[in-house]
Amino acid sequence: MSTVTAAATAAEERFVPTGLAARYRRPRAWIDPDREKSWLRRALPIVLSHKGTLLTALAMSFAGLMLQVQIPNLLNGAITNSLQRHTVPLSHYTWLVLGLSLAAGAAGYVSRLFLMRTAFKIEFDLRNILYEHLTRMEFGFYDRVQSGQLISRANSDIRSVQMYLTFGPAILVSCAIAVVAFIYMLTIDVPLAFVSMATIPIVFALSVRMRRAMFPVSWLIQARLADVATIVDENINGVRVVKSFAAEQRELTTLAKAADRLAWSYVKDADLRAKFTPLVQNLTQIGLVLIVIVGGLLVVHGQLGVGAILAFSAYIVMLQAPFQMLGMLVMMGQRAAASAGRIYEVLDERPAIVDAPGALDLVRSDGDVRLEDVSFSYGDGPLVLDRCSLHLRPGETVAMVGRTASGKSTVSRLLPRFYDVDEGAVLIDGHDVRKLTLHSLRSQIGVVLDEPFLFSATIRDNIAYGRPDATLAEIEAAARAAGADEFIRELTKGYDTVVGERGYTLSGGQRQRIAIARTLLLNPPILVLDDATSAVDVQVEQTIHEGLRILMQGRTTLIVAHRLSTIGLADRVVLLDRGRIVADGTHAELMETTPLYVEVLAQAEAAERESRETAGR
Ligand SMILES: Nc1ncnc2c1ncn2[C@@H]1O[C@H](COP(=O)(O)OP(=O)(O)OP(=O)(O)O)[C@@H](O)[C@H]1O
Ligand SMILES: [Mg+2]
Repeated sequence: MSTVTAAATAAEERFVPTGLAARYRRPRAWIDPDREKSWLRRALPIVLSHKGTLLTALAMSFAGLMLQVQIPNLLNGAITNSLQRHTVPLSHYTWLVLGLSLAAGAAGYVSRLFLMRTAFKIEFDLRNILYEHLTRMEFGFYDRVQSGQLISRANSDIRSVQMYLTFGPAILVSCAIAVVAFIYMLTIDVPLAFVSMATIPIVFALSVRMRRAMFPVSWLIQARLADVATIVDENINGVRVVKSFAAEQRELTTLAKAADRLAWSYVKDADLRAKFTPLVQNLTQIGLVLIVIVGGLLVVHGQLGVGAILAFSAYIVMLQAPFQMLGMLVMMGQRAAASAGRIYEVLDERPAIVDAPGALDLVRSDGDVRLEDVSFSYGDGPLVLDRCSLHLRPGETVAMVGRTASGKSTVSRLLPRFYDVDEGAVLIDGHDVRKLTLHSLRSQIGVVLDEPFLFSATIRDNIAYGRPDATLAEIEAAARAAGADEFIRELTKGYDTVVGERGYTLSGGQRQRIAIARTLLLNPPILVLDDATSAVDVQVEQTIHEGLRILMQGRTTLIVAHRLSTIGLADRVVLLDRGRIVADGTHAELMETTPLYVEVLAQAEAAERESRETAGR
């Protein structure tokens, strides 16, 4: 790993890209959203946005081929005029052929360079389109899809579409040269020209057969590539679980099975290819035989020069490549169609949570939060919230208590509109969240999720994630309020310590504290802490609470809580059960009036004690 990284760093140092702006530029064109159109027509706007480079490539390729196609004719002339009739010196032809070859080579270079440039620009655009689309998709989408599927669509599928979009036209241009070659052949000898082209329709018929046979296999290959990617992705991300259950062998077996299925489809693909390719290739030989027989007879009868046979053979060999490529194009087309289908499947999912037309900007919220008769379920799942109502007054701190899976995190996710309610409404300062711009809404609500996710970056960058321009003093202040400053200073590199992927090099409680600091730095008027201190012990929680007590002043705060100490921070407690708020009051009131509240707290207490004991053992 480290040698690979070192090599990559060395390569990067040697090839510093120039003229690259570190800024996202939207692709100039988009995929046509009309689903009725064929995949190619839908992709056309992207190809057309690069028509300059693509047309240059095609024009140069055409020019190069036009030069090449002269050569067999010149060979014919050399044999007839220089060797047989001695009317033109041989050097005339040799210089011409040499000059033409050089010019054709130069044209070939330019066309290839421009073709590849187009190819990678199209790939770049497709990837950006896909990624930009993904950034617009809502939580519900990510609940459904597997990241391995997305990764494979962003890699191998985009590559196969790109190949077809750029190489397709190039191959068609080289096939167009067949027409020119045919005209040349006609000027030499009409019957022989038709005889030499006799095999071409058969090549075409074979490609059609091949196309039918290959299509399902190409689909299979792409789908199975994605399966393998999903398994690898889950095994790398879930390596800690796999290892702790000593399930490596079982996972290897799962992977081997998927890899085996992939290998099978590749072999099937190769099998079909192996059947058709020799057929297509040997058709050329048959063409050559026909030329020798028919042409030979014409020469014997004095109707044709020997040079013509040479020219015709050269033409046939020259035509072999484009028509073989045409066969390849058919295959590429099948694979590209399958891949495009898979890419469009993602792109055609309309983001469900977007700014409404004429959405308002919430500038600085007063912190009035209201859930009005909210009903909600995830997708087609069971009802999680059932006409739930809750009001947080500006500046108030409310603790939300409830049994596990009662919907506490769900309420936290509805405030910043991670999901939309099915019925009822979530109101901030009296505005329905669906009528506010997402950006302004989310900048006013700081949420510390129950699963703190950190990036593989320095602690400083992680805390400053929401405000990259924050000064170190501000970052440290946020960390102090979150009770994180102390342990961060004890790390060898302090705030410059790079945390491992997802923050795995830190303890759960340390990760939580960094996540809290990250949100506090934003200084949002509304703060939602979803079990944000579940992984820290009571003493550390006390420090966090001291920090929070100061910060929560003048701020509306919703705390999902299990512990009495956390509840102690709140002005008011609400109890969530079966999707509704069933009790609302101070801790003391609820202790007295609501047996369920006493029970939930006792259960939480017991669970906590148990987990402490397990941890201590
Ligand atoms: N992303 C999701 N997709 C589908 N169902 C979900 C999703 N998240 C939660 N649920 C379901 O919604 C219900 C409420 O879950 P929620 O996470 O809100 O509970 P909670 O009160 O926060 O529980 P806990 O105290 O264990 O954190 C559960 O039955 C859960 O299975
Ligand atoms: Mg939860």
